[in-house]
Amino acid sequence: MAVSNVIPSVSFGPKEVDQPRSQFQLQTRSFGKTDLHYYREVGSTNDVARALALAGCPEGTLVVAESQTAGRGRLGRKWQSPKGGLYFSLVLRPTFSPSLAPRITLLAGVAVCRAISSVARVDGAIKWPNDILIHGKKVAGILTETEAKEGSLRHAIVGVGINVNTDTSSLPPELLETAGSISGETQETVSIEGLLAASLMEMEELWGQFLCHGFGPIREAWRSLSATLGRPACFRITGREIAGLALDIDQAPALLIRDQHGVIHKICSGEVT
Ligand code: BTN
Repeated sequence: MAVSNVIPSVSFGPKEVDQPRSQFQLQTRSFGKTDLHYYREVGSTNDVARALALAGCPEGTLVVAESQTAGRGRLGRKWQSPKGGLYFSLVLRPTFSPSLAPRITLLAGVAVCRAISSVARVDGAIKWPNDILIHGKKVAGILTETEAKEGSLRHAIVGVGINVNTDTSSLPPELLETAGSISGETQETVSIEGLLAASLMEMEELWGQFLCHGFGPIREAWRSLSATLGRPACFRITGREIAGLALDIDQAPALLIRDQHGVIHKICSGEVT
């Protein structure tokens, strides 16, 4: 495994890149193998990964941090990133249209959900679009950020935050009702390195499958892990509320909600409760 502690021609502020605290036992072919940047603390792994991507790093480049000071989540939210969690960003180099980028997020959700289930031996479920739940508590989230040029993606940064052995009392009180940690739900300490290795393995496999066979298999896998489909769902958009039954996801992927009048709404982003 090559571990780089020098970042080419980009600067990320005062924090130095540290050596990893242990050798990761990555069994991937390329994800995290060719280029791994490890931080004890960093602003946001997505920011580092983006700078590396813009500097021309290869697909599979990985940025990992033990904690983040400016972790961010979807919809402009903060992502609390204390020690005890796993925070990483993976650089992908898709060549397809930006409109298909949301498929990457669902792919990552399936990968992380499978990894959690195998490493922590507990069933996870995915809440639309990409919150990973255990016993109904959100333990992980995914933020995919892309950049495009002349109609095709230049890179996609898949940012994953997992509350692994996180002391949930360190999370803001307003999150406690909905957020949890894996160890909090299983009462067992979970190997952060093992979870990283499993997540990357699953992602690499699904990414290969996706490039060969398209979105169909990922869609099927997402459906089977979904905590949203077949249940009442409520969605707010520009002050309007859509309530109904979450029926399915389509190829876009959009979530299909049938309201009380039988009208089917396609939800492409935002948050569903
Ligand atoms: C969500 O809102 O559910 C997505 C959270 C994504 C957080 C991860 S942690 C690693 C990466 N770096 C960030 O700043 N955000 C993502």
